[in-house]
Amino acid sequence: MTSFTLRTKNSLIATYLCLFCAFLPGAVQAQADTGDKPIGHIELSDPANLTKQQAEKIYQTVLPDIRAIFAQSDIGAAAKYTSWQRYNKAPYISATHGARYVNNYANMIAHDYGSLKKGETYPEGSILAKGSFSVTSDRHVYPGALFLMEKMNSGFNGKSGDWRYTMVLPDGSIFGMTKGENAENVEFCIACHAAKKSLDHIFFVPDDYRVDAK
Ligand code: HEC
Repeated sequence: MTSFTLRTKNSLIATYLCLFCAFLPGAVQAQADTGDKPIGHIELSDPANLTKQQAEKIYQTVLPDIRAIFAQSDIGAAAKYTSWQRYNKAPYISATHGARYVNNYANMIAHDYGSLKKGETYPEGSILAKGSFSVTSDRHVYPGALFLMEKMNSGFNGKSGDWRYTMVLPDGSIFGMTKGENAENVEFCIACHAAKKSLDHIFFVPDDYRVDAK
């Protein structure tokens, strides 16, 4: 296990323990990018150890701002993902996505998110979206990057299981897109998600944060 330190725009110094450091540090450095302006401020003494309830309350408070930020994106999914079905009960910290709090959504076509059986694949047009935000030690809340996976036509890209990975920064710009803008920046997404080939490259939400999909 390797540990590494990075400084974000907000001068928060964070040290992460990393289980998958083959893809670091460049990509994660960028992943940790946050918006310039805080979208909330919290009255909690220990922002580093939020309970599920506290994290959820913060998320609901800043959600309108997150929605407004990504509504300006040229990417359709970024503009509307928060209206899709959400699959986690409360935000959780995802070490593999910049150590931010994340939330997972899937569009209607991907309604099997979480219930897919081994060997099955998601239909073309499925989109999975993982939004993120961070809570800093000075108790500000910042919007974080949006992580998207969209199932493309068969033959789009064998290596990625025909998923197109996109990372959208909170200023609306595209950090990378498979077979699109700065495709090399999202190669590391493909590499890590390929560990779940038997489940069509999908990990799903950690057990204790799952909600039953309807
Ligand atoms: C080192 C491994 C790793 C890397 C790199 C990685 N992911 Fe993930 N990804 C995961 C894991 C583990 C989960 C599920 C647990 C979680 O949310 O942390 C996940 C979940 C997701 C999900 C929800 C679908 C699912 O698999 O449950 C999306 C969307 C996603 N990642 C997009 C991306 C994008 C886009 C990138 C690159 C910018 C990326 N990921 C990089 C490991 C990784």
